Amino acid sequence: MKPTNQINIGIVGCGYWGPNLIRNFRSVPGCHVKLACDNDQKRLAYISQLYPEVKSTTDYEALVNDKEIDAICVATPVWTHFELAKKSLKAGKHTFVEKPMASNVLQCRELVDLADHNRLILMTGHTFIYSAPVRRIKDIVTCGDIGDILYISSQRMNLGLFQKDINTAWDLAPHDISIILYIMGAQVNSVNCQGEAHINPGVEDVTNMSLTFSNKGFATIQNSWLDPNKVRRMTFVGSKRMILYDDNEPLEKIKIYDKRVEVPPHYDTFAEFHYAYHYGDMYAPYLKQVEPLKVQCEHFLDCISTGRDPNSSGRDGLHVVEVLEAASESLKRGGAKVEISEIVQEQTTNDLKITDTKIARAN
Ligand SMILES: NC(=O)c1ccc[n+]([C@@H]2O[C@H](COP(=O)([O-])OP(=O)(O)OC[C@H]3O[C@@H](n4cnc5c(N)ncnc54)[C@H](O)[C@@H]3O)[C@@H](O)[C@H]2O)c1
Repeated sequence: MKPTNQINIGIVGCGYWGPNLIRNFRSVPGCHVKLACDNDQKRLAYISQLYPEVKSTTDYEALVNDKEIDAICVATPVWTHFELAKKSLKAGKHTFVEKPMASNVLQCRELVDLADHNRLILMTGHTFIYSAPVRRIKDIVTCGDIGDILYISSQRMNLGLFQKDINTAWDLAPHDISIILYIMGAQVNSVNCQGEAHINPGVEDVTNMSLTFSNKGFATIQNSWLDPNKVRRMTFVGSKRMILYDDNEPLEKIKIYDKRVEVPPHYDTFAEFHYAYHYGDMYAPYLKQVEPLKVQCEHFLDCISTGRDPNSSGRDGLHVVEVLEAASESLKRGGAKVEISEIVQEQTTNDLKITDTKIARAN
């Protein structure tokens, strides 16, 4: 018998990332990781060796049909997310899906609708939203300390790990996009993306994306699996101050620069124009180090208990996939601008076509 208030979790996907989720869920009081599922017996043997109390299965149906399980976490490759999450939601389980939430906008919408209809929590693994530096940047921006955000630039690069089913944008950019959407607090209007596949034909290992926003904000994202160094760097340029966030820094992850450019009302000489540059102090606030993944796991459990909407909800997952899909479309068009409304429109039209075909077949 399950104790009252205990939340039982099942997890599907025990490859590289799944064990991190198991470790963190296990550490939260009131949470019991009951069952782990993977197609690969070797991965299940590894989990059993680490956590003997966690039962294991290769049969996802056993997980979905386990009446004692309240929530399922999906940590499998992206192309499998939709089917696994859909089955979980249909079985009445709260569902956590790793990033990116699904392979396209249509699938994300279906998951969001299903969760709404069944009154279930649907959360996506935008881990950095739960990290101390990003939380602090959000606070600084919200209280108006850096002024209006003019632009954000992000670089997330390293050597590998090469994926076969998704390009570097779908692999790495969900982190950049989710942070940017969280901080910018505005909707993306359009996306341009260019990239090249140097190693695996058809799978871009280097991509450069730019986003325009409804509030006139602008962002650029550079992702690569072909870089000698691991780079995790973001710059937030405000009208009053600027923030540099380097996730590789062990202690001073964010630095706030009191720097800005003030265009004078008029100037007669180039020397006078220089006075418009403001150079002030830099400070690096103290940030308490807590594993973001632990905060994320606690938040999922809290949302299940209280019914509150997660900070990285299914809708947030959908918005990230809208940007990724627009980026893929732009890549196909050689970097041309793709409006988000086109993606949404295209999906709706395809949706209608599919529905028409179904109706025609039924007739
Ligand atoms: N939030 C983060 O910071 C973060 C970091 C890394 C990975 N991820 C995400 O986690 C997910 C998994 O990535 P990974 O690197 O662990 O991949 P992986 O390939 O290392 O592991 C995936 C596992 O899923 C299993 N699997 C595949 N299909 C299955 C199915 N239908 N049923 C049961 N098991 C199945 C595989 O056997 C494998 O063990 C991806 O969505 C990835 O984007 C998130």
